[in-house]
Amino acid sequence: MSFFRSISALSRLRSRAVQETSLLNGSVRWLQMQSSSDLDLRAQLKDLIPEQQDRLKKLKSEHGKVQLGNITVDMVLGGMRGMTGLLWETSLLDPDEGIRFRGLSIPECQKVLPAAHPGGEPLPEGLLWLLLTGKVPSKEQVTALSKELQSRATVPDHVYKAIEALPLTAHPMTQFGTGVLALQVQSEFQKEYEKGIPKSKFWEPTYEDALNLIARVPAVAAFVYRRVYKDGHIIPGATSLDYGANFSHMLGFDDPKMLELMRLYVTIHSDHEGGNVSAHTGHLVASALSDPYLSFAAALNGLAGPLHGLANQEVLLWIKSVVEECGENISTEQLKEYVWKTLNSGKVVPGFGHGVLRKTDPRYTCQREFALKHLPNDPLFQLVSKLYEVVPPILTELGKVKNPWPNVDAHSGVLLNHFGLTEARYFTVLFGVSRSIGICSQLIWDRALGLPLERPKSVTMEWLESYCRKAAA
Ligand SMILES: CC(C)(COP(=O)(O)OP(=O)(O)OC[C@H]1O[C@@H](n2cnc3c(N)ncnc32)[C@H](O)[C@@H]1OP(=O)(O)O)[C@@H](O)C(=O)NCCC(=O)NCCS
Repeated sequence: MSFFRSISALSRLRSRAVQETSLLNGSVRWLQMQSSSDLDLRAQLKDLIPEQQDRLKKLKSEHGKVQLGNITVDMVLGGMRGMTGLLWETSLLDPDEGIRFRGLSIPECQKVLPAAHPGGEPLPEGLLWLLLTGKVPSKEQVTALSKELQSRATVPDHVYKAIEALPLTAHPMTQFGTGVLALQVQSEFQKEYEKGIPKSKFWEPTYEDALNLIARVPAVAAFVYRRVYKDGHIIPGATSLDYGANFSHMLGFDDPKMLELMRLYVTIHSDHEGGNVSAHTGHLVASALSDPYLSFAAALNGLAGPLHGLANQEVLLWIKSVVEECGENISTEQLKEYVWKTLNSGKVVPGFGHGVLRKTDPRYTCQREFALKHLPNDPLFQLVSKLYEVVPPILTELGKVKNPWPNVDAHSGVLLNHFGLTEARYFTVLFGVSRSIGICSQLIWDRALGLPLERPKSVTMEWLESYCRKAAA
């Protein structure tokens, strides 16, 4: 039974009335009219959890022995590509269509999730609600969640002191990760675990930690930005603003278009199913019952790698290097030459390719649409558009690249740069703030569903050689 279509869950949620149905991508989703008693996210989760626990139990008992495919030696040697091995409820990635958050594509989210203004970009709080409950929230629910996050947003002083112990030259991701780890001192899960909380209640302090963490990371991230790039002039949060807008405000950017960009940015970067390096790391570490802070700090260390979250930094630096060498009015031929020069020097073209996707990333497409609407004449945006024409045929010609199309990172940097956030080394921190929403949502479900310690089997080359010899005999 689909999570979305569960009428019994809807009635348990005491929704006043099913107000509207909409046909999205062939499946009916229910948009609810909420009463004020439905504004409590934790209470809603409490209602949903038993149903999902039963669903998992049934799946295990009825289909536990069904095979999901064959594992080949290539998969073991190739970073487990294509090996289905993780449960991740909040989102699912299709190689051609891209990401779906609880079944909704990015354009669908842009249509149905509440926005700050009519026709505006989705509010990240709405996405958090969707990821946690599988339901599209009402504007009232999103406003209530915004206020709740605001009420949880106070960052203890020792966190800032921990960051200040690092040199200003430390990479912003090192400073951000240090801050997140310092937040762990206030973990509710750790406290309750030490007191002997039973397994059936693990999800409750996990929920508290997850929401506190999501609420606090923007202030920690903004502190790092202002410390490194703005002489330490800190801008306090504004309680009247929503999550994305307040983050942008604390960074020092109040242009209404930048606020919209930040809402879109945080929403689309939040989750990308479970196998990517940061999500998988968070899930793996949490499977040892490490609390959300420990788990998310570990995830951030993976996000800081250049093949993963650091690619957005690399893209803007690379684009700027193109302009430095060839000027802004670069011809198509010059651009092709530059791409080949990059490849021939043994480097990758940042912002292109993906471990799973095989088409243009819809996260790229919606950022392109944002640029066409708000900054069509920006020279770096025009260069990004030109790269869209030039790079894929070259990567295809290389013959080994499985996906020559642009990914999310190919676009984000020039948008941020346009509104004055020009410091590329900082970009992965923005990605990290967004990822707190997806990774922490799943961590709550990990504990609610009682998912076990993760422990895949590893083997040696000798084991593989011997196994293959026997298989061939
Ligand atoms: C994302 C990425 C790491 C995926 O890696 P992957 O799953 O191993 O990708 P593939 O299977 O297509 O790789 C096959 C080969 O093509 C190369 N390749 C893939 N994307 C490439 C790119 N953008 N530029 C040059 N070469 C690329 C790989 O390095 C690999 O070469 P090798 O066999 O000599 O090691 C890879 O596409 C990449 O490095 N892209 C640039 C960095 C980036 O944008 N990262 C952000 C991802 S959201």
